[in-house]
Amino acid sequence: MRKPFIAGNWKMNKTLSEAEILVTELKEELAGITEVEIAICPPAVNLTRVYDLIKESNIKLGAQNMYWEEKGAFTGELSGAMLKEAGVSYVIIGHSERREYFAETDEGVNRKVRAAFNYGLTPIVCVGETLKEREEGKTNDKVRGQVKAALAGLDTGQVAELVIAYEPIWAIGTGRSATAGDANQVIGYIRDLVREDFGAAADKMRIQYGGSVKPDNIEELMAEEEIDGALVGGASLKANSFAEIVRGAMK
Ligand code: PGA
Repeated sequence: MRKPFIAGNWKMNKTLSEAEILVTELKEELAGITEVEIAICPPAVNLTRVYDLIKESNIKLGAQNMYWEEKGAFTGELSGAMLKEAGVSYVIIGHSERREYFAETDEGVNRKVRAAFNYGLTPIVCVGETLKEREEGKTNDKVRGQVKAALAGLDTGQVAELVIAYEPIWAIGTGRSATAGDANQVIGYIRDLVREDFGAAADKMRIQYGGSVKPDNIEELMAEEEIDGALVGGASLKANSFAEIVRGAMK
């Protein structure tokens, strides 16, 4: 049995004072929940403070990005070692916004995934197709390329621990979620792809759905066999909606 995993991707939202308020509310709302793994991914500048607030709670800390080099002259970047020491457990890698606005490539995603494991961080690797690709029937080809590239060179133990987030780009922040059935189909396809190269590790690996997840669609999504949780953007910015999503994943 794979444990459901709900992660909140705050993106470029919440100043320090706003983050403190949200985390305080989240701790109250989510206290005592052990059936679902919970993580929040605040902007990097607030990681250490958020860690201080959640370290004794059931909420884990995630980062939104990292660089693959160990250290050096890479202005503006953060290393795995820095994230680890800040209390980070998970790191989102290859989010579609980073691929689109910051020119991240499949090869760079793979380097980051391998670097994350070197520092004891668990990657949440994002994959997904554009609306045009979906309409042209190219969804499977797109995710196949992204998944194969991202996982190249990993061992089965790493793959078992890894998290993939399937996020159709047309569903992110648009209010237009994929249907639970469509999401389940692509996620099942991703698991089959991973099984081709890594065998039974594919059945241990968790695959989240992301893209306009809300309290009113989480139960339907989680009812699908292949969907192990959600990567939540907009609805993770309010304590009550994120908590409702976590509770919805328990049902
Ligand atoms: P959304 O974002 O929930 O606001 O659609 C999801 C994501 O980009 O991870």
